[in-house]
Amino acid sequence: MKERQREGLDNGPQMPEQVQVVEVGPRDGLQAEKTLIPTELKIELINRLTAAGIQRIEAASFVSPKWVPQMADGAAVMAGISRAEGVSYSALTPNMRGLEAAIESKVDEVVIFGAASEAFSVRNINCSIAESIERFIPVARAAKQAGLHLRGSISCSFGCPYQGEVPVNSVVDMVKRLRDVGCDEIDIADTIGVGTAHHVQRVVQAAAREFPLASLAGHFHDTYGQALANIFAALQVGMSIFHSSVAGLGGCPYAKGATGNVATEDVVYLLHSLGVETGVDLEAVVAAGELVSQRMGKEYGARAGRALIARKAVV
Ligand code: HMG
Ligand code: MG
Repeated sequence: MKERQREGLDNGPQMPEQVQVVEVGPRDGLQAEKTLIPTELKIELINRLTAAGIQRIEAASFVSPKWVPQMADGAAVMAGISRAEGVSYSALTPNMRGLEAAIESKVDEVVIFGAASEAFSVRNINCSIAESIERFIPVARAAKQAGLHLRGSISCSFGCPYQGEVPVNSVVDMVKRLRDVGCDEIDIADTIGVGTAHHVQRVVQAAAREFPLASLAGHFHDTYGQALANIFAALQVGMSIFHSSVAGLGGCPYAKGATGNVATEDVVYLLHSLGVETGVDLEAVVAAGELVSQRMGKEYGARAGRALIARKAVV
């Protein structure tokens, strides 16, 4: 921040000075991979992300292994990681069975996940929005009793692969429902990456009328290459929690054609250039992203990461 102020640039009245980067690569980044990724690699990835200074990591998903086979080893992943003090490890828990498994695995934070679109709700969790809320009520209650941080995620906040357009009111309605269920934090998720900057600002501002802005998070997939612009737009209206995936890995098994989350490397590069603190060691994230891509036989996809590696090779 200081450097930018010296340059005479102003980030605007709402721009936060600090941002929490929630790393979702080990879950959202890997869940749609067809080939089963060894548990050891998942553990190594999480350990490296922890060592890179990331404070919040979505590490597992306690869902039906028939629906998402890649996440079937969640308990083994949680048992194998080296936890660092102050780092929160979260997992997806769609029902009581998932929550019980998450508690058994000693996660710090659980995520109930619904949608702003009826069609996506049915495809993703096999029930209507209203039914999903009924299912979340006991999960939320038990999570709070267990002292866990409770996050609610709203898929298709900017558009749905089955329904198409999603009105802002549908997102706001879901924000209210998740708030009333007792969520500590709510994710506004662009599952298929169709959001654009002004749309994002409208949705975030409308959501913030119903839930504290400081506890709203932006979860952007990068299908149309708009994720960084969307994060910048959301920062301008004061959002300060963003999800990202190392190396830009990912996609949702129930949103065909949707690409990965915005790359953590690109987000951290953007934030640091704005003088916004993250506590994240960018070079260490790049090393983790390169390693996991290589082991998965994929081209390393983070633009900022690739540029930093290329620059090092030249110097
Ligand atoms: P269902 O078939 O309606 O429910 O699935 P069910 O209770 O009849 O269970 C079906 C089978 O799954 C049964 O096994 C259950 O025991 C088992 P069977 O008797 O047939 O052998 N089962 C479980 N097993 C392990 N752990 C559990 C569990 N629950 C049931 N917790 C259900 C409903 C919600 C379970 C299912 O639809 C499901 O697992 N869906 C998961 C979908 C998912 O993980 N999607 C990706 C994550 S969401 C996402 O990526 C979006 C996000 O990134 C934000 C964004 O970008 O939009 C968060
Ligand atoms: Mg996602």
